[in-house]
Amino acid sequence: MTSFDPKRRDLLKLSAVTGSALAMGALGPELAEAAEAPSSAAAQVGPAPAPVDVLLRVNGGEHRLTLDARTTLLDALRENLHLNGTKKGCGLGQCGACTVLMEGKRVKSCLSLAALVDGREITTIEGVATGDQLHPLQVAFIERDAFQCGYCTSGQIMSGIACIAEGHAQSAVEIREWMSGNLCRCGAYDHIVTAIRDVAAAQRGA
Ligand code: FES
Ligand code: FES
Repeated sequence: MTSFDPKRRDLLKLSAVTGSALAMGALGPELAEAAEAPSSAAAQVGPAPAPVDVLLRVNGGEHRLTLDARTTLLDALRENLHLNGTKKGCGLGQCGACTVLMEGKRVKSCLSLAALVDGREITTIEGVATGDQLHPLQVAFIERDAFQCGYCTSGQIMSGIACIAEGHAQSAVEIREWMSGNLCRCGAYDHIVTAIRDVAAAQRGA
């Protein structure tokens, strides 16, 4: 298990790789607020359609929700289930900050309607650790300092987990290609690739 001193830098790291609001809270309200994306409900244009009943299976739990039919999976996760580790960046499918796994495959949750993933198994950054044991890629991101502001990090880790599982992490070039849907405004790409290579190599026994 990875342990941390309760120092400012360590809290930032832990928050970035786990999506932990608790760790963010420890930084004080101003920093925690600055680290979160602005959230909004689905835009209301014209008369609202009839609400729909949706069963969201997330991180091993089941949630029965009644939602506006236009609600994205991203908004349902963040605003209804309060799983704020999944970030809203562009909202247009271009940055990858909102990446989650559906049935083990990566999807951009800002482009997925919650009603259309009814009953599918969703995994978010909050669901990849096992108890207090971080996922190996979370550990690698910390060890390789694979982020700066941390805003893209949960999406990078979810995408990285899938990239490794898909067998697309054999080399740095391949990782860069298959991670190209996840942007990092801080430019931490070299460290992200190294972290993914570490875990892929460990899984191969290299
Ligand atoms: Fe979904 Fe940018 S917020 S791809
Ligand atoms: Fe800041 Fe990637 S660490 S956007």
